[in-house]
Amino acid sequence: SSTVAVILVAAGSGTRLGHAEPKAFVPLGESTILGVALDAVLGMHETPHVVVVAPADRVAEVQVRFAEVAAAASAPFDVVPGGASRQDSVEAGLAVLPRLVDTVLVHDAARPLTPSLVFDEVAAAVRSRGHGIVPGLPVVDTIKRIEGGHVVSTVDRSVLAAVQTPQGFPREDLDDAFASADPTFEYTDDAAIAAAAGFTVDLVPGDARGFKITVPEDLRRAEQHLGVAPH
Ligand code: CTP
Ligand code: MG
Repeated sequence: SSTVAVILVAAGSGTRLGHAEPKAFVPLGESTILGVALDAVLGMHETPHVVVVAPADRVAEVQVRFAEVAAAASAPFDVVPGGASRQDSVEAGLAVLPRLVDTVLVHDAARPLTPSLVFDEVAAAVRSRGHGIVPGLPVVDTIKRIEGGHVVSTVDRSVLAAVQTPQGFPREDLDDAFASADPTFEYTDDAAIAAAAGFTVDLVPGDARGFKITVPEDLRRAEQHLGVAPH
C-alpha cells in the first residue's frame, strides 16, 4: 500500500509578525497557528503521515502537545527540528519519511485556515497527473512593470497566479529535486525547486482561506475568519 505524507513546516521565527513566540506558537482561536494548521491536515479524507518541522528547542513540546490529536486521527506523527532556511526545514522533513510514502505535500503552518479539501485535491491531482501540483489564485491587482521609478508597462495578469501551499509532488521527484537543488540559491517555494530540476508542475485552484499569516494584520484577519475575539 502507499500513503500520502504532509510535511508541515513550522520552524520559522516569524520576524515580520513580531510576536515574542515563533510564529507557529502564536495563539489563534482556542489553539495556536500550528494547532489550527494541524487540524486542517488531520481533516484530510485519506489519513496522512504527518511530519511537523519545528524550531529545534520546541520539538519535544510539539511532540507532547500534538501526539494525541494525531493518534486520535490514526495519523503517524513525527516531529523533527528545522533548519536555517525554509528549504532546509523541508529537507529535514523529507529525510524522515518512511518508504511507503509515494506522495508528499509540503504545507506552511503559517497558512492555518487552508481547508482540508485543498489537501485532498492536491494529493488527488499529484496521483492522477503524476507530477507536481500547486494551488493558486488569479492575480486581481493590476500589476505594473517599473524601471527607475517609472511605470513602463502593465503586465498581462491572465498569465499570472498567486500560489499557495500545500504543494504536492510524487515523492521520488521531490527527493531528486532537493538532492540536485543549488544550496546557495534561495528558491521561493518547493515548486521552484522541482521546476529547476526539470519536473513539470501544474496549477489547481487555490482557496482564499489559504492566505499566509505574515504580518500582524494577517493574524487579525485569521481571527476574524474563525469568529473569535482577537488576542
Ligand atoms: N519555515 C521553516 N523553517 C525556516 C523558515 C520558515 O519551517 N527556517 C516555515 C515557517 O514556519 C512558515 C513557512 O516556512 O510556516 C513560511 O515561512 P514564512 O512565512 O516566511 O515564516 P517565517 O520565516 O517564520 O517568518 P519571517 O520570514 O517573517 O521571519
Ligand atoms: Mg521567512
